[in-house]
Amino acid sequence: MRHERQVELLRRLKGIDPASPWPLAPASMRNPAKHYVDPARFEHERQVLFRGHPQLIGLSCECREPGSSVTADLGGVPVAIVRQRDGSLRGFVNACRHRGAPVVSGDGAARPRLTCPYHGWVYELDGSLHARPHAEEAFADVPKAACALKPVAVAEGYGLIFAQYEGGANLTADKALCGAQSEIAGYGLDTFAFIEARETVCDFNWKLVLDTFTESYHIRTLHKDSIAATYLANVSICDTFGPHPRMIGLLKTVLEEIEKPSEADWQFLPHTTAQYIFMPSGLITYQRDHIELWRVTPLSADRTIVRTSLYAPEPPATDKARAYWKKNLDMLLDVTGGEDFPLMARIHRSLKSGALDELVYGRNEPALSHLHRSINAALAAAGAG
Ligand code: FES
Ligand SMILES: [Fe+2]
Repeated sequence: MRHERQVELLRRLKGIDPASPWPLAPASMRNPAKHYVDPARFEHERQVLFRGHPQLIGLSCECREPGSSVTADLGGVPVAIVRQRDGSLRGFVNACRHRGAPVVSGDGAARPRLTCPYHGWVYELDGSLHARPHAEEAFADVPKAACALKPVAVAEGYGLIFAQYEGGANLTADKALCGAQSEIAGYGLDTFAFIEARETVCDFNWKLVLDTFTESYHIRTLHKDSIAATYLANVSICDTFGPHPRMIGLLKTVLEEIEKPSEADWQFLPHTTAQYIFMPSGLITYQRDHIELWRVTPLSADRTIVRTSLYAPEPPATDKARAYWKKNLDMLLDVTGGEDFPLMARIHRSLKSGALDELVYGRNEPALSHLHRSINAALAAAGAG
């Protein structure tokens, strides 16, 4: 984020009372509890949001070398995104045209061609079929040209990769970012290095994963033994980019910055956790010295895979640096896995019981309300609300 923008955001904090909630949305929002648990609603979400909207997949650095890849699930469709020799990316349905086995799996390391693990069909990096070893004659009546991997729309920009399974013919990173480009560009994500990704299977709805990142209201209570001592619980900075909310959590030390007489000396980012929630697929977090991506893959209304990836400004050159980043990821997952996610699982069980008709998002939770208004509006626009 450029310094002028950081100063602009800091100026908003001038004169606020850190003991009072700020900012406040014009009104609170009520959301039916069944939105989190209803299987029919979930199917609409999967079709409309996860297949028909751009999905944030990862940072470009996850697959820089020709032949390297990253895999994802777009509303139940397995997808592989492969770096081409000319540096571009192509996306495919990750299902062999013989009998459907995933052609790309594992760590995404670079390879000259893609080989199906089942019977060994070989694909070029562009998805065209190269060979059917030991059985060309057996498939002579099925032209190779009809057996290319099925394409999926992919876009790359600002160091981010997006994919869209349906309706993505004109997908671009600009379209997917909906106005967040200038802030995102300021982080220089295209120069970051991929450290590690870990997956957790959670017994709760995918929206609860995002919910827990979109307000700082819970910090004082739920995180009283971990991060509450260092963060402001009442005050955050919220903005929206199309359907995407951005919520910046603030360390208490941020208030010292606005006391400095010259704005040229003001520092913002070192005192923040900046969270860009890209509806519906996940969020990018800038956290002082690194970037995190939290990507959700809903399996059902009740079950979600969360993939947490960590990226550093440069590749770790020593064992000490590698250990530092590993510890960082351990700590992150300790807080979410020890404090947020177990509570989300209990909330999900409550909602599933049908005992509550609705949830209330307060005026002090503006990013949360925006996220759910975006979700509800996208479904309503598709006639699925
Ligand atoms: S399923 Fe891929 S080669 Fe048979
Ligand atoms: Fe939390």
